[in-house]
Amino acid sequence: KTSNLNSKQIDLGDYKYYMQKEIFEQPQAIRDTLESRITKNTVLLSAFGYRAKTIFKNTKHIQIIACGTSYNAGLVAKYWLEDIAKIPTNIEVASEYRYRNPIVLDNTLLITISQSGETADTLEALRSIKKRYKNIHTLTICNCAESSLTRESELILLTHAGPEISVASTKAFTTQLVSLALFSVAIGKCHKQVDKQQEASIVDGLNRLSGLIKKTLEQENKIIKLAQSFKDKFNAIFLGRGTMHAIAMEGALKLKEISYIHSEAFPAGELKHGPIALIDKDTPVIAIAPNDQLLDKLKSNLQEVKSRGSQMIVFEDEMSNVLPMKNMTVMSITHNLGRITAPIIFTIPLQLLSYHVALIKGADVDKPRNLAKSVTVE
Ligand code: G6P
Repeated sequence: KTSNLNSKQIDLGDYKYYMQKEIFEQPQAIRDTLESRITKNTVLLSAFGYRAKTIFKNTKHIQIIACGTSYNAGLVAKYWLEDIAKIPTNIEVASEYRYRNPIVLDNTLLITISQSGETADTLEALRSIKKRYKNIHTLTICNCAESSLTRESELILLTHAGPEISVASTKAFTTQLVSLALFSVAIGKCHKQVDKQQEASIVDGLNRLSGLIKKTLEQENKIIKLAQSFKDKFNAIFLGRGTMHAIAMEGALKLKEISYIHSEAFPAGELKHGPIALIDKDTPVIAIAPNDQLLDKLKSNLQEVKSRGSQMIVFEDEMSNVLPMKNMTVMSITHNLGRITAPIIFTIPLQLLSYHVALIKGADVDKPRNLAKSVTVE
């Protein structure tokens, strides 16, 4: 039972910290999560259990509930589900959802996302909705096979990240995204929204992910350099648009969790409605620039930031061609990423950045102050 493993039972091998080990395990964790769930060009519906097909076909709405990093994975999934499967999707943090009286429409599939499967708020949210809506169908995306969430959910898709010891979640997050991508295609197929060609191209991207992550990890030295400038910083701002807003949120969460730098993420288009007031020369801005339809808009958001004199770091797709400006470092991560691969790949530099900033600051990266790996009480 992975949820009961403690750090003494898992060997660090050549690594110094669990977070470091878990970041570098991601290529394998993703391969394990994809194993026997895809063929060369299709997603296998059988991965979700024999009842999945009927339930997915009848699903008209999706409600996702989760906490922390798992919530950020769900935010990405909302974009994918509406974009690929065309199913209206809502997402809410479990600690809010469980204490209000949400209206759950007929034919809703309730999805919980959790590394541990034991997070009290997520579990109680599931229980209270099951009590109020007896016929609701439920799916959990979970990393622990024998957990309360897997026991109490109708459908289960396990992330095969392996035990995650470091409090800050890394490989659990990227394998959650992979699982949610599989789910988006699977349910999209049941609704006849995904044709063979589209499916094949998404599966091809998933098959290439491990290699792409490995390549991204090889750029660690550049990120170590970037991390130096965060040593004396008290605030940082992360920007992204679309799914990259969710990835920016995860980047900000990682940085605040382990380096104690106050970090916030904003959808870049919202800057002018308030957040830009926060930006000064002591507040680094980290932006994610995939080569997508919002790229030009993001570029003009970066111009707005530039005039405030802050240090800017842009992680881009090589095809994005962000022209470096004064005080800006542009780091090309890879090229030609798609809507599924891009958010997963852009997560990696943000994980490495927060890890190295925490090291530079001398913080305990695996056991940050005041935080617990799994919050099983309120
Ligand atoms: C805690 C952990 C986070 C995690 C969150 C949700 O706050 O420190 O890393 O994302 O719980 O945990 P879960 O196990 O439900 O994914």
